[in-house]
Amino acid sequence: MTAPLLKLDYLRKSYGSLVVTRDVCLEIDAQERHVIIGPNGAGKTSLLHQIGGQVQPTTGRILLRGEQINGLTPDQICRRGIGRTFQKNNLFFNLSVFENVHLAVQSVRGNGWNPLPSARLRAALATRTQEILDQVHLGTASHRIVRTLSYGEQRQLEIGVALATDPALLLLDEPTSGMSPAETGRMIALIAELPRSIAIVMIEHDMQVVFSVADRITVLHYGEVLATGTPEEIRADSRVREVYLGAHH
Ligand SMILES: Nc1ncnc2c1ncn2[C@@H]1O[C@H](COP(=O)(O)OP(=O)(O)O)[C@@H](O)[C@H]1O
Ligand SMILES: [Mg+2]
Repeated sequence: MTAPLLKLDYLRKSYGSLVVTRDVCLEIDAQERHVIIGPNGAGKTSLLHQIGGQVQPTTGRILLRGEQINGLTPDQICRRGIGRTFQKNNLFFNLSVFENVHLAVQSVRGNGWNPLPSARLRAALATRTQEILDQVHLGTASHRIVRTLSYGEQRQLEIGVALATDPALLLLDEPTSGMSPAETGRMIALIAELPRSIAIVMIEHDMQVVFSVADRITVLHYGEVLATGTPEEIRADSRVREVYLGAHH
């Protein structure tokens, strides 16, 4: 039996008397596209922050390939293979698209602070950078300065920066929020095209997006897992319909 890629084991986070993650147990397989849904304040972002190490759980464990990662720093967790996007502050707005991804690739695959990498290494870093830019549909925008990109393009680039760390698991918090329908469509296509070698845990509100991307869905409600299952199972779940889907569908 192989361990799941990610396992949450009775994860709990409280702020005083407020429990925002209530004994969450969840397994994510390698290659899986898992979407987390739930009303505002349900604890979705808090859950992602705990997986990424930005927030420490109060009790419970987070296991990556069977090894406990809660307690590690966000940087250590990233190096073990969990990449994520941040909605702010991880792009260099006055540098080019290429430079942004190149810096991230260099930090993972370069030779430390050696200012004179070999020609072969330089070529490999540039090739990898271009490959990532193509994956996030910015292959022809590589020389543009980031501040001149549209909002949607900047969000695509954030995914590129996250891909530079070669994640086995990518965490995305509402990747389509604030986007126009056209931008949303492009983002969903981009996510769908990412190699299956990357598992994805994604928070999403738009039900059309949720059901088009997800292999499995988890519904959070007041920090608790209300249901986990395939899109068909979630659609058919009477409790989910009652507390969440019911109001909108
Ligand atoms: N640092 C914090 N201190 C106190 N309460 C917090 C903190 N972070 C989040 N919360 C609370 O946790 C609950 C879940 O928030 P969040 O995870 O952002 O929900 P969601 O992403 O599902 O909208 C909310 O009630 C929020 O106010
Ligand atoms: Mg949130």
